[in-house]
Amino acid sequence: MDLKSLIRDIPDFPKPGILFRDITTLLRDPEGLRYTIDFFTEKCIESGLKADYVVGMESRGFIFAAPLAYKLNAGFIPVRKPGKLPAPVHSIEYELEYGTDCLEMHQDSLYPHSRVLIVDDLIATGGTASATAKLIQKIGCELVGFGFIIELRDLQGRKHLPDVPIVSLIEY
Ligand code: PRP
Ligand code: ADE
Repeated sequence: MDLKSLIRDIPDFPKPGILFRDITTLLRDPEGLRYTIDFFTEKCIESGLKADYVVGMESRGFIFAAPLAYKLNAGFIPVRKPGKLPAPVHSIEYELEYGTDCLEMHQDSLYPHSRVLIVDDLIATGGTASATAKLIQKIGCELVGFGFIIELRDLQGRKHLPDVPIVSLIEY
């Protein structure tokens, strides 16, 4: 299936110069959604990504990480923006184009040696995925790989990630 044809390009969103890759048009297409999750699962299995937990980042990451965890018989763990999780958290600050941002994960959601797959809808600069990797490596988990629906190749986000398999379904 031609997944690219289901993704809508919106120029100058959320600010001038950014070409936004809008996945809502893919999500609303029943066959496209099913195919995306099935193909994502297949590619992760083919790449040897065996995980106990799939970690997904708020908010678009959740959409793909939870069904992938279900298909891989893994648990799903949310990584959230600050102040959203109710129990004690591990936090990590990371660089944005301007300033810094922060991600949080429940302290009791992962333990050392858990095998973890990090999943997001899209990798751009790699800042979000790299910060999440640092968060789970700090706990002593085994990072088995990364999965993204979309990879923006020009931004070279994968250069900022640790040396583990990276699965992406669509490249621009
Ligand atoms: C988007 C996207 C990734 C991140 C990728 O999230 O869902 O998480 O940006 O960019 P990076 O590789 O440069 O870090 P956003 O912060 O827009 O939040 P959202 O998922 O809530 O829309
Ligand atoms: N997140 C970061 N860059 C993006 C882009 N160009 N389109 C959609 N989501 C993004």
